[in-house]
Amino acid sequence: RPKLPQYNSIDDAVKLLKEAKNIIVLTGAGISTSLGIPDFRSKDTGLYSKLAHLGLSDPQEVFDIHVFREDPSIFFSIAKDILPTEKKFSPTHGFIKLLQDQGKLLTNYTQNIDNIEANAGVLAENMVQCHGSFATATCVKCDFKVAGDAIFNDIKEGKIPECSACRQRIDEDALKPQGLKRKRSSNGNQKDRKDDESSDEDDYDIPTPGVMKPDITFFGEDLPDEFGSRLVGHDRQLADLVIVIGTSLKVAPVAEVPGVLPRDVPQIYISRTPVSHTDFDIDLLGDCDVVVSELCRRAGWNLQHPMIPPD
Ligand code: OAD
Ligand code: ZN
Repeated sequence: RPKLPQYNSIDDAVKLLKEAKNIIVLTGAGISTSLGIPDFRSKDTGLYSKLAHLGLSDPQEVFDIHVFREDPSIFFSIAKDILPTEKKFSPTHGFIKLLQDQGKLLTNYTQNIDNIEANAGVLAENMVQCHGSFATATCVKCDFKVAGDAIFNDIKEGKIPECSACRQRIDEDALKPQGLKRKRSSNGNQKDRKDDESSDEDDYDIPTPGVMKPDITFFGEDLPDEFGSRLVGHDRQLADLVIVIGTSLKVAPVAEVPGVLPRDVPQIYISRTPVSHTDFDIDLLGDCDVVVSELCRRAGWNLQHPMIPPD
């Protein structure tokens, strides 16, 4: 995507912000690090740099759906560290809310699962949580859904949460006279259990309840339908400015969003680290809280708890 030559400076960014009516804000973990929540890929502080003890070939496997189905304990051993807790938000979340208040926020596409946008007052209708969230959890066996906080205690204690609906069915079945059901018998015929005491335990289907998986999008799972339908079916025609904040843009399909939008829509990148695989029209490199505070100062906008740049 070739750069638009007319935009370069921070003042160009301020002008674009003031004129824009339909802004797409695409966010990643970098907007929450000032709250003490680690991002994923920063070299020494990111979550993935701290997972060597798990012995995975790639730390991203903690969010891999196939690994989760095989052994959910890997994910639940770190889940408590990424659980949203306090009702706080950063100046950058406040900036997104400010754009909403001004009627300029078309959509905030967030990859974050911390749900902190809501703390700042960003409305659900103005947001797509591209990688889901901890707001709900679903049984991997029977699809039973619960509110996310119903499993927070288990997560905090490092336990694997089990499905209460599965558990109830199992308990009810156990009260029925047939008890355990035959899965298969060694000679392929259904036999009464009593006649077959020598047979292997594996011949019986010992029922276990499903594991409750938070509805965050793991690698190998589809993004919510709204991601594609809203982006391609609606926002692509309306957006007049794109602001990408605090994401390394390493994970598809979110990483493809800038390329999907018409090339005459200006794109601004705000982050500590530049990306090499996409060309933005304006790069504002630095702490995102500082950058958005400065943008608002220059625009004459009143941002809640702005950040003063360090000397
Ligand atoms: P990354 O950790 O890959 O990228 C975060 C980016 O934000 C990096 O470029 C940092 O330099 C930058 N950054 C960190 N703190 C910052 C700050 N205070 N100010 C400005 N920039 C800052 O995180 P994401 O791009 O969000 O998916 O990662 C995308 C997805 O990968 C996540 O949603 C997650 C992960 O695997 C799943 O878990 C499914
Ligand atoms: Zn279940």
